[in-house]
Amino acid sequence: MKVLVVGSGGREHALCRAIANSPLCGALYCAPGNAGIADVATLVPVGSEDVEGLVRFVQDNAIDFVVVGPEGPLVLGLVDRLTALGVKAFGPSAAAAELEGSKGFMKDILAKYGVPTAFYGRFTDAGAAKDYVRKHGAPIVVKADGLAAGKGVTVARTEAEAFAAIDEALVDGRFGAAGAEVVVEEFLDGEEVSFFALCDGENALPLASAQDHKAVGDGDTGPNTGGMGAYSPAPVLTPELEARVMREIIEPTVKGMAAEGRPFKGVLFAGLMIMNTPDGPVPKTLEFNVRFGDPECQTLMTRLKSDALAALVAAADGVLDGIDLRWHEGTALCVVMAAEGYPGDYRKNTEIRGLDAANAVDSVTVYHAGTKRAEDGRVLSVGGRVLGVTALAPTVAEAQAAAYRGVDALDWPEGFCRRDIGWRAVGR
Ligand code: AMP
Ligand code: GLY
Repeated sequence: MKVLVVGSGGREHALCRAIANSPLCGALYCAPGNAGIADVATLVPVGSEDVEGLVRFVQDNAIDFVVVGPEGPLVLGLVDRLTALGVKAFGPSAAAAELEGSKGFMKDILAKYGVPTAFYGRFTDAGAAKDYVRKHGAPIVVKADGLAAGKGVTVARTEAEAFAAIDEALVDGRFGAAGAEVVVEEFLDGEEVSFFALCDGENALPLASAQDHKAVGDGDTGPNTGGMGAYSPAPVLTPELEARVMREIIEPTVKGMAAEGRPFKGVLFAGLMIMNTPDGPVPKTLEFNVRFGDPECQTLMTRLKSDALAALVAAADGVLDGIDLRWHEGTALCVVMAAEGYPGDYRKNTEIRGLDAANAVDSVTVYHAGTKRAEDGRVLSVGGRVLGVTALAPTVAEAQAAAYRGVDALDWPEGFCRRDIGWRAVGR
């Protein structure tokens, strides 16, 4: 097969590495990719949200299969365009991607199909949203309806904070159209975990659990980021809880989306809160994403033993029931290296050295995110999150130690990372 992967992050580097290892893969392209991806795929200079440009490339080059990494092109309808042209693609249609593209839509689907989640209201009027906050009290959560680059959620400790978040979205227009509606919902207290399942429109195949670290600083301090590190599996999601998540959350959502005429194909990424109740731990849905997590994907692909491309094609073909996935024992752990200043304004075009030394550390793979190769061959940092140093080991403590050995082998003074990735699981 001639395969095109769309995206340029660590997630896409991990997908490209896994796909390149498949005997089904004849030629691999990535648009637009990065310096690390260039080692396994031919880079295509087309942006991930340039739907017309991507469609043209696919047609001109007779691509057989397209794997879409980020949510942007999914919400823009890239998979719909490809499907109409008879090109197979991994990822949901725009109608199914609404599960991530509109939090209000997602909440309505969960309510309609009885999937456990926080109670909520949808509002376009600030006064009505504030009345809802007064009625339920703080803590309470305010979310911009649409895609807001991870900045649209406010966990408000006080009513005043909730009012400010409502005004920012509905009155000041901070998120533009994405914040023209807000969801106000119940605050859920517990431990967060991510769960991933492949879906083919009808069937769902569990992949694995993972936990990421959103805050920029050690001890979960400082502003939120796209994710400073992750590990898989997450021990909080026991096999019993995983079965329950499949039965109560993933399967009813897949059935519900099919019943709505929006069959979900691709990977369903459920953000879950595991709540401690007198009856034991209870999983509830915080959010859905319609793509792999970044950096969670780096840990999943590192653990996957089976042919990733065969599984992605089966999801697109609607034959996931014939797939049985095998995983490496142990834990994969990814430490993200970011550029100084991230998640605020960060430095660009600084040189990264020591990549070969880091990759030579036993069990370590360095996935690239915001990197590019200069004409003179040096690798430069060009993004906020720049590298994902990932290790696979029998225990989470060993995986953590190995990943930090990889980090310490790098020579990049303008980069930084958290030093405590995996602390919850190591503590357990
Ligand atoms: P989301 O983009 O919906 O995942 O929200 C971003 C983050 O906000 C989540 O990862 C949680 O840490 C937090 N969050 C979202 N919804 C809730 C909720 N209902 N209760 C508590 N925390 C929440
Ligand atoms: N790491 C969280 C995400 O990809 O949304």
